[in-house]
Amino acid sequence: MQAGTEKRGNVYYSDEIIEEVRTRNDIVDVIGASVKLKKSGSSYVGLCPFHNEKSPSFSVSGQKQMYHCFGCGAGGNVITFVMNYENYTFQEALKFLADRAGISLPEEEDSQQNRERRNKRDLLLQVNKDAANYFYVQLRSERGRQGYEYLSGRALTDETIRHFGLGYSNKTAADLAAYLRQKGYSDELLVEAGLCTHDERFGFHDKFWNRVMFPIQDVNHRVIGFGGRVMGDGKPKYLNSPETPVFDKSRNLYGLNFARTSRAGNFILCEGYMDVIAMHQAGFTQAVASLGTAFTSGQASLIRRYVDEVLLAYDSDGAGVNAALRAIGILKEAGLSGRVINMEPHKDPDEFIKAEGRDAFAERIKKAEDGFLFEIRILRRGFDVEDPAQKTKFEMELARRLSQIENEIERENYLTVTAREYYIDPEILRRMVKSLAAAGAQVKPVERPKTASGKKQTAEDNRKKTQRMLLTWITDEPEIYDKIKKYIQAADFTDELYSRVAGLLFDELEAGRCDPAGIISKFEDEEEQRRVAALFHTRLPGIDNEAQKEKALHDIVCAVKQYSYEYYAQRQGTDLNALQQVIASKQALEELLRAHIL
Ligand code: CTP
Ligand code: MN
Repeated sequence: MQAGTEKRGNVYYSDEIIEEVRTRNDIVDVIGASVKLKKSGSSYVGLCPFHNEKSPSFSVSGQKQMYHCFGCGAGGNVITFVMNYENYTFQEALKFLADRAGISLPEEEDSQQNRERRNKRDLLLQVNKDAANYFYVQLRSERGRQGYEYLSGRALTDETIRHFGLGYSNKTAADLAAYLRQKGYSDELLVEAGLCTHDERFGFHDKFWNRVMFPIQDVNHRVIGFGGRVMGDGKPKYLNSPETPVFDKSRNLYGLNFARTSRAGNFILCEGYMDVIAMHQAGFTQAVASLGTAFTSGQASLIRRYVDEVLLAYDSDGAGVNAALRAIGILKEAGLSGRVINMEPHKDPDEFIKAEGRDAFAERIKKAEDGFLFEIRILRRGFDVEDPAQKTKFEMELARRLSQIENEIERENYLTVTAREYYIDPEILRRMVKSLAAAGAQVKPVERPKTASGKKQTAEDNRKKTQRMLLTWITDEPEIYDKIKKYIQAADFTDELYSRVAGLLFDELEAGRCDPAGIISKFEDEEEQRRVAALFHTRLPGIDNEAQKEKALHDIVCAVKQYSYEYYAQRQGTDLNALQQVIASKQALEELLRAHIL
């Protein structure tokens, strides 16, 4: 990175311009435009737009110009908010906010190549939009009658067809190309957008013809690609746009543009476009589907921005079951819980809804099977449990999978349920699981990163929390910095990120400023930005009077110093700086224990 400039996806903007854009957009105004905020003390609270919740844990601070969700950990400044909420890149968010504040971004800082790339994206989105409009109009014309009848024959209402922007590509394989050429698009662009192809036999022609068309939209309702279905039994049944600079199949989901605002608290993951549409029409607006490819971990992390539970509504056939098993694994890795909706005796959600209606489906949602239990049930099908040798194999495998569940209570619960379900003596199963867990622990002592939700608090967690409280307190009341600076330095924060942030903050305070939201912009990684925001939004102890305040602050500063002392004392043998730190800390600590801070 060049000094004094921020490199974001190859576009350079100076720190000054980024800061100008940021400070000219008040975070309360910007977030308030999309999230209902209520004043609470010195900040505002509302329902978090990044995960589903019933009571508000999303906090926006006008003073700090930052937001933070105590529920899901989302957080950042006004730029990161726009990036996450609108799914924009850094440049797109900066552009959006610059426009909003009437600032023109200096184009000359932008390289020729980047301008071209950005223009290319804009052009691709534009041509997709024009194509979608063309298909849409065709569906309503005389030539599109067959397509319209096909869709209404599948029980879609006019309103649904409009809502999803469905269309029709004509029988002639040249009229979209002619239409778009006449609008001024080059042949190369039509090929790059995946709308046209060139081959020896047919020359230059439309990729989609004589199909009903499903425009695929990103979260901002921009058309990024298409799926087209034959009307009848032709092959292939679905034809999809190839990946393009605007169409990343592993990071988008069909229906997400609508599902993101559903308040169901979960997403229903289907296999097909028609399934999603049928579900939405029946009122299940939380339905999404992958895009003609298998479900990916990128899609799982996309989902995690909105909900933490996914209900799988996959086909009931063998392929659907295998796809569900894979999806459960991916969901688990992303920290999402997965449950499986039983579609029997129907093939897929579309057919289920048509045959039994929405209430019956709502009933199936309630009865959806836990992901782990689903896996075990499918596993058992592969063994003939009348045969003792096979029964043993099944039980060993069950024990192995139970042993991989890290949370003890969770493991015990699954153990009890599966033992009962499959007639296994729970004591024996428990012993098997224990020995496997011990063996597994010896092989690889994996410690998976803890997620935000309800994990047990360790001493380390407490230590970090105290450090976060101190940083939050300082940004709440910058005056206290002068009182504590003789005791506390950036190095006292034992987490690397904390100490970097403390260093930046203390530098600012020395210069008479305090601007925590600006510090966030110095971190590029989204995860780091969230963590930085959390540093400045830790809950502080309730305080009624000055004496309590003095005591609380004193305790926190002492605790931070004490941890720092212990931390460096442990490292004395290996780290030369540590000895210095230990001596200095010891002195400061002794002085501190006697001192009044405020
Ligand atoms: N798919 C595809 N190419 C195919 C078949 C399927 O890309 N040749 C993708 C499509 O995204 C489709 C999904 O896989 O939506 C599910 O396929 P399938 O279950 O066969 O189709 P349905 O969704 O049931 O479609 P329909 O009800 O229209 O038959
Ligand atoms: Mn179907």
